[in-house]
Amino acid sequence: MSAPDDPGRRAGRVGTAYPFPHERPRRLRGTAALRRLVAQTRLDPADLVLPVFVRDGIDAPQPVSSMPGVLQHTPDSLVAAAREAVDLGVGGLMVFGVPREQDKDAAGSCGLRPDGVLNAALRRLRDELGDDTVLMSDLCLDEFTDHGHCGVLDGRGRVDNDATLEVYAEMAVAQARAGAHVVGPSGMMDGQVRVVREALDGAGHQDVAVLAYTAKYASAAYGPFREAVASTLRGDRKAYQQDPANRTESLRELRLDLEEGADLVMVKPALPYLDVLSDVAAAADVPVAAYQVSGEYAMIEAAAAQGWVDRDRMVLETLTSIRRAGAQVVLTYYATHVARLLGGPC
Ligand code: PBG
Repeated sequence: MSAPDDPGRRAGRVGTAYPFPHERPRRLRGTAALRRLVAQTRLDPADLVLPVFVRDGIDAPQPVSSMPGVLQHTPDSLVAAAREAVDLGVGGLMVFGVPREQDKDAAGSCGLRPDGVLNAALRRLRDELGDDTVLMSDLCLDEFTDHGHCGVLDGRGRVDNDATLEVYAEMAVAQARAGAHVVGPSGMMDGQVRVVREALDGAGHQDVAVLAYTAKYASAAYGPFREAVASTLRGDRKAYQQDPANRTESLRELRLDLEEGADLVMVKPALPYLDVLSDVAAAADVPVAAYQVSGEYAMIEAAAAQGWVDRDRMVLETLTSIRRAGAQVVLTYYATHVARLLGGPC
């Protein structure tokens, strides 16, 4: 393209001046106020969900060494952390339970008991916080099984899809009774959303929503989470979680989850799967969430601890990228921290 008005060109200094003087994108980057005005993606604590861990049999909160700053809570410290998040404007909480070793069994029955660690914590949080926040519960067996898999096993040691669905159905009702506003089936069993929806409706919990873990990949980035929930898993979850090589499959999972009645859909992990997130966001007519998982958190923490990256800038940049790719809601262990960084609600 020619640039007839270019002064450098008129002066005969061809090739040295910027050739498109009418196209200067930098104009909108010149001041913080200009950048703020034209920013297409904003972070708001209301869009963030804080995942929290509550552990049975401890009398003080325990640090998770692979996730500096994250705690396994007692019921009391959980309530305090939840209140802090809610007061700062964080949009919701996703609760994970960590039972005592001796309460784990092959069927994960502690997850179904009303007095099990997760259901007791949900009840307590709902009593304390009412409808001031959105209380979400992890609907999965891996925290509760002695073998650490997300479902019950068949005679050959493989996860039995349909037998697991029956347990999820019961677990969903137990969590709804305990006070969850949203249940999050995360085990990647085929048909889990339909079974959970029908069980909730059958028990009179039509108001409880289902957050479907729609695209959940078999990721190395769940490593620190396994410490956080004291997982006993040996082996891997590749026979039920998705292969990182696959993209189209997530659209199939999305179609099925929507047909089965998902109220929200989620992509997980987040940052390595922004392409998938973008696909899902383009195709979904329900709110889309993404989960910045434990390993994503740990990578930022590890690099920041070395002074190799600026923690807060990395946190804001990764979350902004996840939002930009199409996530309306983001689950992140940084939710409270970000709410504080952003100044909380006015
Ligand atoms: C399954 C579940 C996992 C995570 C959330 N729900 C672990 C897994 O699938 O192995 C991982 C979350 C994280 O890494 O932060 N209950």
